[in-house]
Amino acid sequence: AAMSEQEARYRRSVEDAATVGFGARREDAPATITATFSNTPDADPALPSVRARAGEAVDQPLAELTSPHLGSTAEIDGVVATAAGAQAAWAERPAAERAELLLEAARSIESRRDHLLAVMAAEGGKTVAEADPEISEAVDFARYYADSALALEDGPMTDGATFAPDRVVLVTPPWNFPLAIPLGGVLAALAAGSAVIIKPAPQTPRIVEAGVAALHDAGIPQDVLQVVRTEEDEVGRSLIAHADIETVVLTGASETARLFAGWRDGRERGPRVYGETSGKNALIVTPAADIDLAVADLVHSAFGHAGQKCSAASLAILVGSVADSDRFRRQLVDAVRSIRVGWPRDLGTRMGPVIEAPGEKLHRALTTLEPGETWLVEPEQLDDSGRLWSPGLKEGVAPGSFFHLTEVFGPVLGLMRADTLDEAITLQNATDFGLTGGLHSLDEDEIATWTERAEVGNAYVNRHITGAIVQRQSFGGWKGSSIGPGAKAGGPSYVAQLGSWVADGQPS
Ligand code: ALA
Repeated sequence: AAMSEQEARYRRSVEDAATVGFGARREDAPATITATFSNTPDADPALPSVRARAGEAVDQPLAELTSPHLGSTAEIDGVVATAAGAQAAWAERPAAERAELLLEAARSIESRRDHLLAVMAAEGGKTVAEADPEISEAVDFARYYADSALALEDGPMTDGATFAPDRVVLVTPPWNFPLAIPLGGVLAALAAGSAVIIKPAPQTPRIVEAGVAALHDAGIPQDVLQVVRTEEDEVGRSLIAHADIETVVLTGASETARLFAGWRDGRERGPRVYGETSGKNALIVTPAADIDLAVADLVHSAFGHAGQKCSAASLAILVGSVADSDRFRRQLVDAVRSIRVGWPRDLGTRMGPVIEAPGEKLHRALTTLEPGETWLVEPEQLDDSGRLWSPGLKEGVAPGSFFHLTEVFGPVLGLMRADTLDEAITLQNATDFGLTGGLHSLDEDEIATWTERAEVGNAYVNRHITGAIVQRQSFGGWKGSSIGPGAKAGGPSYVAQLGSWVADGQPS
């Protein structure tokens, strides 16, 4: 069947994003990008002070937060009116001035690295090893979108046309990347010339406040960037569906996206919703793989942040002799057992807690075997909080089963087997989602076959499948992992989607 235009666009972006080779090599990355998920950052994270500050941060009562918790639709109207009133002056500033403020924001974020680390560890349950590169990613977004702002004013699209930004953008980020994703959305909208309202995930308001404070201190005006907290009730709904909000940038579960879309019902023209949602991601390992590398990348991709990443590897699809290999199984089991689980305040922790006691799907994945499955490493609940679980590894996940098709968002990796690469790709593509995916193989024909057929937004070859690098691997999915036009975060079209081009001489 002919590819739809959307499919064709995704296909191109998959090709752009695919890292075919032997892992991301930093020296290939553009000079503007500082540090990455996959590398040790340059800055000294001042670890002892992180431990102390994490203690303080976790004790900060929510009542002490400075962002308002909005309890009425009249208050929502006030916040939106402030944003709408401030936007024109912001957009009228020369792009160079807005870009310079974004670069100042990057410096401001960098200068607070240890404080941001502490809050992320305490509030979001992120280990230092996970939180530190996330700060680098926020810095990277600021620098990258500063360039995007300049390109809007003086780029190939600007001949005979002027960019008209969306006036008010609402950013609704998730709790699992509680700094980089919120700030990424905010910085993109600021680059476009929009005013921004950000509504943190209820689990992680402190880190959003700390990040936004860094931006305000860098000179981003208070009325151009506001943080508000609401519940998912009538008041929250009146924010999502507000007539003066043109665009909602959402990252979260597919259920949340559907909920928000439902809240827009009854309006003639709802806001555009752009978003990146759930994933059920698999990494395929063929007999032509470097097995040591495959094991390391599987463990990294499956258990980083306790598996709570939309990009995480939840499945390993083992082809032919790999599925039957005792050596592979033993190596993987040893690697999983070696993961030290604890609270992030203990700096030796390699895997931290889940964000809250597991809900139904994750609980099922941690405690129940579906027909055909056996535990290679059975997860255990480690304390009374309900949040600390040791990692789980199971084999025998059956095609079409609960674990094959359902995003569980936690520390369980399931093994499936396939006789051939083609069969493995079919299993990988069988889910409703299409966010990340990986192949471990040193065979060029296999790499070409997989890159052609994998239905994922971010396709990684011989690399872990989390930790997309701004500009190098712009991030976003297709199929059920994406809503809206699908421009990818940290990529060339992301800022430009937050507005429209108006032919010169036309009224805007
Ligand atoms: N951008 C995040 C990653 O690539 C979600 O893991």
